[in-house]
Amino acid sequence: MALLPILHFPDPRLQKVAAPIEHVDDDVRRLAADMAETMYAAPGIGLAATQVDVHRRLIVIDISETHDQLITLINPRLLGQSPDIQECEEGCLSVPGIFDSVERPAEVEVEALGLDGKSFRIKADGLLAVCIQHEMDHLEGIVFVDHLSRLKRNRIVNKLRKQQQKVP
Ligand code: NI
Repeated sequence: MALLPILHFPDPRLQKVAAPIEHVDDDVRRLAADMAETMYAAPGIGLAATQVDVHRRLIVIDISETHDQLITLINPRLLGQSPDIQECEEGCLSVPGIFDSVERPAEVEVEALGLDGKSFRIKADGLLAVCIQHEMDHLEGIVFVDHLSRLKRNRIVNKLRKQQQKVP
């Protein structure tokens, strides 16, 4: 197991679209384990492979306080979403220190492969629905601040660029 470096917005590599995983093999399972370790250490409640500069369709999520409800989604595919919208304050390990409200469908149903390579479905609402959609966005090269107004997004870009310039 290893901690993986996380890309920080506005790194252009966060805009890459991830490719499907063809075989759920030991390399994929090792990556998933490293991503989970990285997420827990941060600490965060979700991490997409894109954020660790691996452009393959893999997500880890654990919204529990006890860190024992790990969900791994490989090649997640949206099956359906509710018409009703929920607004939630989001943050992201790739956008440190920034939190803002994003509107998303309140419920989603997703099909994915698990670490055993078998397909499963998950229906989610509340925070889990937010997290799944946020992480699936990463696989499309979308960061949550891309959902904000251009003005807000530009302010965030400028703030983070300044912060990153200070780092030696
Ligand atoms: Ni994120």
